[in-house]
Amino acid sequence: MNEKNLLELMNNLSIEEKVGQLIQITPDFFDSEGEVTGPAQAWNLDKRTLYQVGSVLGTHTREQVEMIQKNYLQRSKHKIPLLFMADVIHGYEHIFPIPLALAASFDEKVVEKMAHYSAKEAADAGIHVTFSPMADHVTDARWGRVLESSGEDPRLAARLTAAYVRGYQGESLNDPNKIASCVKHFVGYGAAKGGRDYNEANLSDVELYQNYLPAFQQAIEAGAKFVMTAFQSVSGVPMTANRPLIQHVLRELLKFEGVVISDWGAVQELCAHRVAENSSEAAKLAFQAGIEIEMMSNCYHEHLEHLVSENGWEELLDQVVWRILTVKNELNLFENPYRSMNSRVQSNEYRKVNNEIALRTPVLLKNEHQVLPLKKNEKIILLGSKADSQDVLGAWSWIGKQEMAISLKQGLVDGGNDTLTFIKGTPSERLQDAEVVRAIQEADKIIVAIGETSEETGEAASKVHLRVPFEDQLWLDELHKMGKVTIAVIFAGRPLVLTDIEPKVDGLVMAWFPGSEAGHILAQLLTGDFDFSGRLPMSFPQNEGQLPLTYQQMETGRPLTQTNYQEKYLSKYLDCSNDPLYEFGFGLQYATVSWKNIQLSTNQLSDECSTRLTMTVSNDTDIQTHSIVQLYMRDEVTTVVRPMIELLDVKVVKLEPNQKVIVTFTIDKKDLQYVHADLTKQIELGKVTFFIGESSKRIVWSAPCFVG
Ligand code: NOJ
Repeated sequence: MNEKNLLELMNNLSIEEKVGQLIQITPDFFDSEGEVTGPAQAWNLDKRTLYQVGSVLGTHTREQVEMIQKNYLQRSKHKIPLLFMADVIHGYEHIFPIPLALAASFDEKVVEKMAHYSAKEAADAGIHVTFSPMADHVTDARWGRVLESSGEDPRLAARLTAAYVRGYQGESLNDPNKIASCVKHFVGYGAAKGGRDYNEANLSDVELYQNYLPAFQQAIEAGAKFVMTAFQSVSGVPMTANRPLIQHVLRELLKFEGVVISDWGAVQELCAHRVAENSSEAAKLAFQAGIEIEMMSNCYHEHLEHLVSENGWEELLDQVVWRILTVKNELNLFENPYRSMNSRVQSNEYRKVNNEIALRTPVLLKNEHQVLPLKKNEKIILLGSKADSQDVLGAWSWIGKQEMAISLKQGLVDGGNDTLTFIKGTPSERLQDAEVVRAIQEADKIIVAIGETSEETGEAASKVHLRVPFEDQLWLDELHKMGKVTIAVIFAGRPLVLTDIEPKVDGLVMAWFPGSEAGHILAQLLTGDFDFSGRLPMSFPQNEGQLPLTYQQMETGRPLTQTNYQEKYLSKYLDCSNDPLYEFGFGLQYATVSWKNIQLSTNQLSDECSTRLTMTVSNDTDIQTHSIVQLYMRDEVTTVVRPMIELLDVKVVKLEPNQKVIVTFTIDKKDLQYVHADLTKQIELGKVTFFIGESSKRIVWSAPCFVG
């Protein structure tokens, strides 16, 4: 529709009809044709108001979308198509690895491909907008939603977040295979105190600007059409009513021009926060703050029409409605309210792509005496709570079919591993059985598949105990006592505390929740058909008491290198070192890759002159692999306190057997900027150090550079 007609359409709407566009409800509101019952009745939505709402969230099938849209268009006066939104977080029906696992690839191409494919599948099911990516900065593994994040490094996370948006939205939303992206949760949700979901966040402004905004900024620059606000409060103001952060930061600073939507029920929750006395005040606070679509509470429906007239907000309302109608128009809904809902995606193609993507996500954490890869003819026993479990999809896979997912056992069997013995049950039960004990004694290697359930991850899944379950731990204890060669494969949506189990195993694989193809990809990795290349996108603590934890430790006045004080008075714990068990960026692989001839083109950096870091990356084995080259920096003397080390850039290098590649990083002066106390980004003159690392700790090269 051209702009003139769209404007005409908007001008023909009454205030009540305009307010309708700001209301988002679930499909069950439309369940009973004709009669108003159920949730619609509870909300006082009569037939007229029901058929003027603007959007629906969480449909399950395209038939459902088709039916709701058809009935709606028949009954609604202005025939403005409904917008269908949903949580398509890591795939729709075919489930890819969880976002935290995707981040372990360190590769934006992997993320973009995943988003491209899940957009198509969701579009075919009638979805127009996904509530993804999650751009929240995370440092606290107690918070279940770290699963949905791109990890703890703000630069890497921002890059990956933008890749999601590009993958979902492509060049144009006119393309029926594309869907719009809603980046969330603005802002500070990951800072929920104590890692407890929905809890308040108290952030310094420098931290907010330096660590929490970049992923939003890059998603917005990549063109994200929606932003969802967070549930919690930041420095005492719930985000649903946080006018300064929405207007000043999101709109003015980040230049967001799309639609702002609340999280589920969050407008009404302003009353529970006790910043609003009643739902009318909640509507007023949220609308004034800049919440444009109210998701699943009825404050706007009940009060906004009145509030608009009372406060003279007609123009403001028009701006909001205009934005919503514009997205509907960009999605081509006025011409085709059913968009791409007539093609079926090919399952084979999805499985293949899912394999390619998922193979890049597990992280090999330990491989003593090259216990992996498994060798042909070795007698392998597979056991543990996750050994034959199809609970491999992780949270936010509500359309995914768990019964179609490939368990580790299935994957090993499909991979032709005919010497595999599977032991079902817990150690308390099975170790009573002499035959089981004998089989274990005779086996060459034991794979112990253990970890979290999907239910323990994602939203409303905060935990203080991040160790593997008792029975899984018991398997490892008993096998250790028996002196067996053991490989633990961990399924989890967050960094776990692996301190107790690490010394008891020879091999350790972090599988995350790998998605529908879990067993197949794990079998390929365990048997060496494909090399590991995942790197940890979050630090794995030694102890829960270290949380929140990030490799970006700030300098203190009492660093561990300080010699003027007795050791006791340095910044440390008495009962645990400051180090994580496994640090950000860490991961092993089978291939031997060497990094040589690392050099800077110049060690003087200025406005006019950038520097190039070049190096030779060679695969010294006949295994195809990926090398993840990490470039870090440290600003040596700064006006504001900065981290000891910060990731500056990453190159993911695909290597054929025995291949040699020259890798080049270009470093511009502006890349070194950091937020200062006045909240501007500044570059400090003087000395910086660049590092090339296999992880944030395993540094293989460093050189000074002077910024002028
Ligand atoms: C609540 C979650 O916080 C949000 O991430 C999600 O998109 C909405 N519910 C809609 O399901």
